[in-house]
Amino acid sequence: MGGHDEKDKWIVRSEEGIGDTFDTILERRLSRRDVLKSATVASSFALIGSVALGAETAAAQRVSTPQFARIEPTPPEVDEIKVPEGYYARTLIRWGEPLSASAPVHNVWEQTPEAQSQQFGYNCDFVGYFPLPLGSNSSTRGLLTVNHEYTNEELMFPNYDPKKPTRNQVDVGIAAHGMSVVEIQRAPDGTWSYARNSPFNRRLTGETPMRISGPAAGHPLMQTSEDPTGTVVRGTLNNCAGGKTPWGTVLTAEENFHQYFGNLSKLDRNDPRYAIHRRYGMPAEQSERGWELFHSRFDVSKEPNEGFRHGWMVEVDPYDPNMTPVKRTALGRFRHEAATIGLAPDGRVVAYMGDDAVFEYVYKFVSKGRYNPRDRAANMNLLDEGTLYVARFNDDGSGEWLPLVFGQGPLTPANGFNSQADVVINARRAGDLLGATKMDRPEDVEPNPVNKKIYVVLTNNTRRGTEGQPGTDKANPRARNDSGHIIEITETNDDYASTTFRWEMFIVAGLPSDPSTFFAGFDKSKVSPIATPDNIVFDNSGNLWIATDGAARAIKYNDGLFAVPVQGPQRGNVQQFFSTVAGSEVCGPEFTPDNRTLFLAIQHPGEGGTFEKPISTWPDRVGLPRPSVITIQAFDSRPIGS
Ligand code: FEO
Ligand code: CA
Ligand code: CA
Repeated sequence: MGGHDEKDKWIVRSEEGIGDTFDTILERRLSRRDVLKSATVASSFALIGSVALGAETAAAQRVSTPQFARIEPTPPEVDEIKVPEGYYARTLIRWGEPLSASAPVHNVWEQTPEAQSQQFGYNCDFVGYFPLPLGSNSSTRGLLTVNHEYTNEELMFPNYDPKKPTRNQVDVGIAAHGMSVVEIQRAPDGTWSYARNSPFNRRLTGETPMRISGPAAGHPLMQTSEDPTGTVVRGTLNNCAGGKTPWGTVLTAEENFHQYFGNLSKLDRNDPRYAIHRRYGMPAEQSERGWELFHSRFDVSKEPNEGFRHGWMVEVDPYDPNMTPVKRTALGRFRHEAATIGLAPDGRVVAYMGDDAVFEYVYKFVSKGRYNPRDRAANMNLLDEGTLYVARFNDDGSGEWLPLVFGQGPLTPANGFNSQADVVINARRAGDLLGATKMDRPEDVEPNPVNKKIYVVLTNNTRRGTEGQPGTDKANPRARNDSGHIIEITETNDDYASTTFRWEMFIVAGLPSDPSTFFAGFDKSKVSPIATPDNIVFDNSGNLWIATDGAARAIKYNDGLFAVPVQGPQRGNVQQFFSTVAGSEVCGPEFTPDNRTLFLAIQHPGEGGTFEKPISTWPDRVGLPRPSVITIQAFDSRPIGS
């Protein structure tokens, strides 16, 4: 798996510039009728479904807008999911389900870290579908990679006391973080299930050893008493969203890592590390989960460098269960929401990224080397060398990607930067010095493979324009922005590696009756209410699908999934496809390559309740709510929205 013996399966079709197999070509020919019907070009997504390519396929596209009877939004107390007529949803895998023959079945009264580290983790976020076998385009068998962002101890454990967690609760929590890789298959009747005994199944947790690569590897700030080399770290935490690479690996984002590292106030304020940890938001006293009570690596006063080893993008090969995950430090250190990949016309790999905090930045990384569709192994370290940029959005609709390169501009010893390692470790300050634009909480930033534009999702920022905070600008046009917005970027020459771009507002979210909203100029009386956009995905026609997180607070409706065309007369026509359960957000929208199955992660169902006083019993309708991944399909198995 994942070795040189797989290489021969990667057949190049030069006009598309991406590996394609005979199976794929056959599948495409067999489904030509559907291709014509839906005007999709399956081949451009052949490898893993959503990698944005160069310009050559775009001309062949004909826009097909989503067709379904939109649902009405549900009030926040409603604990039922909702899909349009003609569709059905099923639970595929839930928190605690065993991922091997020997893994115990989940027992909420007898949780142990040993058991949890072999079971599906908590709070599923990003979902990536990787066809099996590697290099195929299968929509009936694949690997699902699922992030487990955080834990809700008050829902997981009886009588949980946040001031005094037990050692067992702490260690179960660490084991419930990270990521799962799980094999799934679709039966002839359409039913998806996961393969409990698959050799591909894997859990990454807050304890899994990982390698540190790129410019920060080995730097003194990366060295700890446990790892004097600064190159090996235990675990990945707060894995929010992510992305897939053209070579079939997954990028998992370490988002709110700061919250796990307690006692910053005990670190000497004159220690230069204090200012960096403060800029990244580490708690002054005990952390929310108190892990530092049992593990000194989470105590900043005892292990001041451990926090520098988190906040990275981590690359994992789901096809190789023995692969050591790699933290790619060239992509910078911040509260990574995700990293989604586009290929520049010359084959360089571009990763678009957001730092999800108020007044933080949008970034991209452009690799030095080029993607080689014929040699998987040769692509494995492309994300170690290249240029990191941060975005400036000018009020006149132009924009620039400003290089975060040591020695250039203000990134010099005079400002405390002595190497590229210093720049990537303290990327936020580097962005400050370059004059990057402070955004309203960047979530997914993703290139659309069909129209080549990049969609920047900004979820909300209720502090904008308040006392002592930055005011509005054209790219962040609302004070107290509680509902978020989406910006559309056009790179110069449609080249993802360009250093200049144009941008325009695509959606300003909220209740359509709110005069500050905007739906790309579409008639507001016809759109669904939508707020707090977070994760996005594109279908094979290039329509944008938006998952939300926080609508219950912003507009008093449960979160959901929404489809919106980006081209043609329907551009901006937001229609609600899915509504989630009480207390939850919707994550990970992901399609199979044939678009006939949609995966969603239902994260933190019942948040706001407790173990003793639940506000949700989804999905089991008895006992605790369980974060789960669901599948949505049409009864007649047509592609979703066709
Ligand atoms: Fe974990 Fe930015 O959402
Ligand atoms: Ca998110
Ligand atoms: Ca979120």
